[in-house]
Amino acid sequence: MEKSILITGGAGFIGSHVVRLFVKKYPNYRIVNLDCLTYAGNLENLKDIEGEKNYVFAKADINNEELLKEVFNDYQITDVIHLAAESHVDRSITDPLAFVKTNVMGTVNLLNTAKNFWKDRENHLFYHVSTDEVYGSLDDGGYFLETTPYDPQSPYSSSKAASDHFVRAYANTYGLRTVISNCSNNYGPNQFPEKLIPLCIHNIKQNKPLPVYGKGENIRDWLFVVDHARAIDLVFHEGKTNETYNIGGFNEWKNIDIVKLLCEIMDRKLGRDKGASAQLITFVKDRAGHDQRYAIDADKINKELGWKPSLTFEVGIEETVDWYLENEKWLDSVTSGDYQKYYQEHYS
Ligand code: NAD
Ligand code: DAU
Repeated sequence: MEKSILITGGAGFIGSHVVRLFVKKYPNYRIVNLDCLTYAGNLENLKDIEGEKNYVFAKADINNEELLKEVFNDYQITDVIHLAAESHVDRSITDPLAFVKTNVMGTVNLLNTAKNFWKDRENHLFYHVSTDEVYGSLDDGGYFLETTPYDPQSPYSSSKAASDHFVRAYANTYGLRTVISNCSNNYGPNQFPEKLIPLCIHNIKQNKPLPVYGKGENIRDWLFVVDHARAIDLVFHEGKTNETYNIGGFNEWKNIDIVKLLCEIMDRKLGRDKGASAQLITFVKDRAGHDQRYAIDADKINKELGWKPSLTFEVGIEETVDWYLENEKWLDSVTSGDYQKYYQEHYS
């Protein structure tokens, strides 16, 4: 095998798309998917590649030092693409320590294992997949650049900012070869239905209220998950050592407009009267400390690595709705267990 890449969080939403892309595109790389399978991790996401010769799954928590050492040693890991994280802002508001544990301590544990395992550090890469939320919140104007000072506002974004700082500290202090990318909001197949888009699709189908925080005026920049995976592939192979790349969709939407669009699409696909699903829109109490606007300037990755989104939002969102309608079993399985409890506690 030319490389033996450890991808953490590969059973989650973005991780599963990254694992699939690498397993299929690089038959001469071994892909080791390490995931502890929290509520957000689901091996069903990777059913189609389960038997591939260059794919291995290892169930482990990134906080488990012994297991990490074993995996590095057993599979002679040459590179890391680190996605494992607690990823939902609302959950970080109710349980910040879980975010410190996985996103900060888990990342440092992983950095340490890589640093100790790789004696010739210049020949290996530690890639941290991070978020645009580390830059804070924007008003109506301006964009996040790679040089924008960090200003995280939520427990989630603070934990991701801390993990980014540790990655840079390991590059500076121990000579680890690293790269970081900070991406905007992803959407697409396999996203857990606690995030805005899949939650709305799921609720519209069931004729349940669509909870819009505050006035629905907050703005996010949406990117199709497969385009994020393509960007990660490029940054991994062609990104400059110890650099940062912003990744975004050039696609800003107010939350309320996204929800209305989903209602229109679902009315059409479910054969409902025009305007029927929009009756479900319910304005609820705002998220505490709700960031107003995120908007990425993705000029650097575009100019230096030639990346841009391949799908328009109109096409991507139709594909996404179709996927959720065609994958009822997946939805049923991920919403069994603790999902109902979380939903009732959060939205009551
Ligand atoms: P997700 O919640 O869908 O998946 C996270 C995965 O990590 C799950 O499979 C889970 O089981 C695993 N995991 C969690 N804690 C773990 C631990 N302690 N040990 C091992 N595995 C663990 O998340 P996602 O939305 O796919 O996000 C993936 C990464 O991308 C995260 O680092 C997130 O911060 C970042 N990111 C996400 C977005 C987005 O819009 N979703 C945008 C930019 C960056
Ligand atoms: O910007 C990148 C980030 O995008 C990632 O780092 C995070 O992991 C990912 O979860 C996402 O964070 P957001 O908080 O922006 O995503 P979420 O889908 O939770 O919310 C999107 C917007 O919709 C946000 O302004 C809050 C609002 N919202 C969300 C939910 C779940 C609602 O109005 N109602 C809801 O029920």
